[in-house]
Order: sequence, then C-alpha cells, then structure tokens
Amino acid sequence: MLPGYGSVVTGPRGSNRTGSNRKGTKLQDPTPNDMQMLVLGIETTCDETAAAVVARGNDGSGRILSNIVHSQIAEHARFGGVVPEIAARAHVDLLDGIVGRAMQEAGVGFAQLSAVAAAAGPGLIGGVIVGLTTAKAIAMVHDTPLVAVNHLEAHALTPRLTDALDFPYCLFLASGGHTQIVAVVGVGEYVRLGTTVDDAMGEAFDKIAKMLSLPYPGGPEVERAAASGDPGRFAFPRPMLGRPDANFSLSGLKTAVRTEASRMMPLEPQDICDLCAGFQAAVLESTADRLSVGLRLFHERFGAPRALVAAGGVAANLAIRDALQEVAAKAGTTLIMPPPALCTDNGAMIAWAGAERLALGLIDTMDAPPRARWLLDAGAAAPAGFANTRAGF
Ligand code: KG4
Ligand code: ZN
Repeated sequence: MLPGYGSVVTGPRGSNRTGSNRKGTKLQDPTPNDMQMLVLGIETTCDETAAAVVARGNDGSGRILSNIVHSQIAEHARFGGVVPEIAARAHVDLLDGIVGRAMQEAGVGFAQLSAVAAAAGPGLIGGVIVGLTTAKAIAMVHDTPLVAVNHLEAHALTPRLTDALDFPYCLFLASGGHTQIVAVVGVGEYVRLGTTVDDAMGEAFDKIAKMLSLPYPGGPEVERAAASGDPGRFAFPRPMLGRPDANFSLSGLKTAVRTEASRMMPLEPQDICDLCAGFQAAVLESTADRLSVGLRLFHERFGAPRALVAAGGVAANLAIRDALQEVAAKAGTTLIMPPPALCTDNGAMIAWAGAERLALGLIDTMDAPPRARWLLDAGAAAPAGFANTRAGF
C-alpha cells in the first residue's frame, strides 16, 4: 500500500477520471466548496492504520482529498501473520498522527467536517475499539455526527466512489478474512449470494505460502512463484465445481497441496513454483465456476447487474483478474475493479461509506458498539450442510 495514496477523482455519474498522486498533494478540480459533504474516515480493523477525507457532491459524485495508509506488514512479518495485540498497540501509537496527516493533506479543519466515520467491525476487536473510540472522541469534541461503518459495506460501496456505479451490482469480495459474492442492491441493502464455508481465499494463499516457507503476506509471493511454475504438474481438486449454490471451499485444496508438499520433501525451488501454480490454477477454475453461478443467481433475483465488481486484496492477483474478466464477459456484464490501493483496506472507503449513509440520514449514537463479527447481510444463514464451520457468515 502506498502511503499518501490519494489518486481517485470521480465526477458526476458517467464521467470519471483517475490520476496518480503518490505524494498526497491535492487534486484541484472540483474544489471542496462545491461539495455537499466532507467526511473523515478511519480504518483500523486489521493491520492497516488508515484515515482519509472524502468529499461527496450533491450529485452523488465523490472525491478523495487525502488517503493515508500505514501498513503494519513490517510489524507482523516475523510472526508469519497478523498478531492482534501487536496490531491494536500499533493502531494506538499511529492513529492520531495519521488522522492529523489526513486532515492536513485535505486542507480541512475538524470544524468543517460533516461527519466522522469509523469502521466499527467486523475485525480484530482491539483495533476496532481504537478506531471507533477515536472517531467518537472527534465527534464529541467537534459536535459532528458519527457514522459507524461496516467494513464490508465500505468495500461494497467503493465502486460508487471510483466509478460512479449505480445499483444493483454484483460484488466479489476476496480478502484475508472474507470470501463472498454479494448483491449490492442499495445503501444498507445487501444480499449474500455465496460465501466460503471454511477458509477465506487470501487466508488460503497465506497458508500455502507459509507451508512452502515463502514470506508473509503470502498472496503476492504465491502469485510470483506460480508465474514460473507448471500448473499441470499436480492434479489438485477444483473445490465445489458444478454445485448449484455459489459457495466456496478452500481447505480441502489447501490440504491437498500440503499432502503433496510433504510427500516430496525436501522441496526444490521448481517444486515450490509448480505447487503454487497448481494451487492457483485450482483457485482460478473454482472461482470462475462459483462466480458464474453467483451471477446467474443474481440475474434470477435482481435482473441484470450493472457490473461485476471485485474487491479485497486477492483481487490484486493478475491471474485472478484475467479470470474475472472472462467470467464477466461470459455473463454479458462488465468487470469493475477499483485501483488496487482502494481494493485493499483504506480510510477513503470508510469515509465514502460514511458519506453515503449520511446522505440518507443514517447516523449513529455514541453507544455504537465495536463488533468483531458483523454480517453484511443480516438475513444470511449458514450455508446448508455447513452450519458448524467457522466461516465468517
Ligand atoms: O483486503 P486485504 O488487503 O486485507 C484484508 O484481509 O482485509 O487482503 C489481504 C489478503 C491477504 O491474505 C493477501 O495474501 C491477499 O489478500 N493477497 C493476494 C494477493 N495480494 C494480496 N492473494 C493472492 N494474490 C495476490 N497477488
Ligand atoms: Zn477489507
């Protein structure tokens, strides 16, 4: 993640433009004064400490005025994964400074804010408490409305900021903690069409990397190794292929890779590349199949989606991006992927979701709770036959 990424500008519906702005200097047009709302967003649910200021116009257009992200990868790398207590402490240490930078780069004072939004879950509870409490303090001191945002909702609404996308659309969210297909019908109206019944997709990439002694975070490492590997050397299973529901499963595939790797120990570098290529090929085929079912289910319930949207860290994988492109084309829809820095966790998506909710009068009180678990679709039940799994549904 680039610190100070503030690169996305969207205009009125239908016209949008994107430009790189790595130093975080402000993009000039339109001015914040033309905008109806200015919202500060705070994100601390996992291992990114982030804050951003976003403006929303009367016409529903959005503009990122600042977007500061500190990735804690360095703090967690030697443990091979995110350590919740270390993450929470780092959020405590970093957040004030990051909020200050976001406000400064946006050129906005606290008194000008229309609202302050924080991700109130789902996520690692220590971090969530830090972000939400900070937002509450700012809201109280400056007498500004508070919006407690569902982190998944923020991912879901991001293409409305980046691409001025209208409802309804189909979201594929694949991150370290979540793998879901969601019908995004309106602000606050989400219908889960599919979910993983065990591991999240990014989690599976991370675990494969760990078992093959590749560094953390594993997703990009597995992708890199796979590029020099033979995807046909191992016949790994294609989980859930052909099932009528749109659910995912990754733990059987992960076990198959582990079994093959243990059988071949010690591994040569080429073995590692071939194992990664075989794993990724199986993920691609399974994902394409699950998404085509998900899009069919979407069509049956909501008509044609305006787009297939991919978000979450796994959507940074180029092979997966290609596969999604093909799935969307086959289903007669277009694929929208927000720029990678807005696909992974960031403050701008929280600020934007806050602005969308504020525009509908959806604000929260000071007793809004931090939540470790928070379903996007409150009506969603555990997938049939998987009621006792630990999946995040
Ligand atoms: O959305 P994200 O930044 O954070 C959350 O988990 O909320 O996603 C991080 C996940 C990690 O599991 C990481 O390994 C995975 O996304 N990831 C990838 C790639 N880049 C990141 N997985 C596969 N291929 C990649 N290139
Ligand atoms: Zn996320």
